[in-house]
Amino acid sequence: TVAGKKPVKGLAFGAIAAQPMEQDAFVVPEGYAWSPIIRWGDPILPSGRAFDPAQQTPEQQARQFGYNCDYLDILPEGPRHIRSMVETRRGTKGVLVANHEYTNPDIMFDASYDAATRRAIERAAHGMSVVEVTRDKTGTPWEYSRIAPLNRRIHLGTEFTIDGPAAGDDLLKTIDDPTGTKVFGTLNNCAGGTTPWGTVVSGEENFHGYLRVNGQDARDARYGLRNTATRYGWELDDPRFDGNNPGYENENRRFGWVVEMDPYDPTAAPVKHTALGRFKHEGANVILAADKRAVVYMGDDERFDYVYKFVSTDRMREGNSAGARAHNKTLLSSGDLYVARFDGDSPASEIDGSGAVPSDGAFDGTGEWLPLVLDGESQVDGMSLAEVLVFTRVAADTVGATKMDRPEDVEPNPFTGRIYVACTNNSNRARDGYPGVDEANPRGSNRDGHVVEIIEDGGDQTASTFTWNLLIVAGDPEVNDSTYFSGFPADKVSPISCPDNVAFDADGNLWISTDGQPSSIQKSDGLFKVTLDGAERGRVEQFLAVPRSAETCGPVVDVRDSMAYVNVQHPGDDGSWGAQTSYFPDYLADGETVPAGAWRGPRPSTVQVFPAGAGQ
Ligand code: FEO
Ligand code: CA
Ligand code: CA
Ligand code: CA
Repeated sequence: TVAGKKPVKGLAFGAIAAQPMEQDAFVVPEGYAWSPIIRWGDPILPSGRAFDPAQQTPEQQARQFGYNCDYLDILPEGPRHIRSMVETRRGTKGVLVANHEYTNPDIMFDASYDAATRRAIERAAHGMSVVEVTRDKTGTPWEYSRIAPLNRRIHLGTEFTIDGPAAGDDLLKTIDDPTGTKVFGTLNNCAGGTTPWGTVVSGEENFHGYLRVNGQDARDARYGLRNTATRYGWELDDPRFDGNNPGYENENRRFGWVVEMDPYDPTAAPVKHTALGRFKHEGANVILAADKRAVVYMGDDERFDYVYKFVSTDRMREGNSAGARAHNKTLLSSGDLYVARFDGDSPASEIDGSGAVPSDGAFDGTGEWLPLVLDGESQVDGMSLAEVLVFTRVAADTVGATKMDRPEDVEPNPFTGRIYVACTNNSNRARDGYPGVDEANPRGSNRDGHVVEIIEDGGDQTASTFTWNLLIVAGDPEVNDSTYFSGFPADKVSPISCPDNVAFDADGNLWISTDGQPSSIQKSDGLFKVTLDGAERGRVEQFLAVPRSAETCGPVVDVRDSMAYVNVQHPGDDGSWGAQTSYFPDYLADGETVPAGAWRGPRPSTVQVFPAGAGQ
């Protein structure tokens, strides 16, 4: 229990065993049950039809829950002024918000669809969903509302506003948008966060996979953008996805942002915030500083990329009045942007790449938030403010930031303000031709990842310096002697690898969902509780496991309801083009077979876990 907080009844469970990666099952602890709340293809808007794999169209998909759900939250029914959703009790009505990161065309369709139709459906399956949910009483499973006022789909056809210091800059103008302030669509929306003013922010991550560039600007290569055909092939349908087409040279620069969406106002255009910089945004998480400025922590999910912090110029206004909400929705439009440098306090000779803990007993040290933008001015020699924001990776390269092992979710604990960075893995660390180890990334060929804990100096979220330590150096302790759990005995933890998303419960515990355990430790991915305080600090307990080839995303843990929620992403897609390995969540009954020529694939879904028997 966090000091000063009244103990609340926790989510009681006995850790499940690590599950074999071949298993096509969703596994929860004894005493719990699960069900999908909503699945890919379930209709959420008027004239949306029930999912029919033989009759799918782009128009239908735009009225249905999208594919590969990632970020997830269930917000209160009306806008709330909230310090954190963790502290807000969910009632009997809620608003489910989910990201739809990407598509798996090889297992989404039967052979009857032509390529152009498939691609149009895929564009409609990207983006975000807002869906109202209801239940009879708290602590029981939800049902989604088929038609409801707040239900909304955001996809590649949705108009966004571009705001902040780079909006309107020449770098963002195209022939379709000479103002550089409007763009259709969002894509590869990975993790995200719910803001204290009741909006949702979402990271546009691997945008390079969708946009072809003309190869004329070396800065594009820093983002993996290339002058070659894209995997998705959308440039075959719409000229804007190919920067070789005159007038569309800058289209790619209109992606790679943090977007903000107001789930309580279905008519409000979502916004791309240039003030938060452009990189492969895993997500964004907001906490208020003592003076009510909004502080946003962000990771750039690429091997050897960085951790960032944004501090808003203005302060959050209290209350839910229209004026306060309108003001608060401008907080991410102006502020200071920093990138993190981590300095270890142990001799470099003790950081040998093996993962052996240095003689001072911890991977730890101090750090500094290096300014990229302050008071509306670039802090980077030779780069304008707009250039720093549009080519943020290039800017960060010049100031001495620390290259991390794929920083994914970066989230402050709402009770303590300490920040947790999930570094998922980095197979290239210290390999020939790549950067070596450092105390914050201490393992060569880091297959299992680690979690960094950052403590801002003086407990001030706006501080420019901090201390840090590695909370977990992940892996399966039975086969890997370089694991570390803050001193907690490694033989008493659940094996964990490839931490991706993090979340907190009302007891102040950390929850981690994983992406990549099948390839690193040959176990199904899952959701894990990590104790942060007291003698059990570092104790990892597995709560659930997801089906074959799936990733666990967007965890929400509500200890007051004894419920947890996850998005099950890419079930059945093992990456080997066309191979399908799961029927989740509509499993075949015993003896049931799929008729020849019929499609029966897996459906990425939002799942709720609840006490067995609840609501029955
Ligand atoms: Fe979309 Fe970094 O995971
Ligand atoms: Ca140390
Ligand atoms: Ca992720
Ligand atoms: Ca998170």
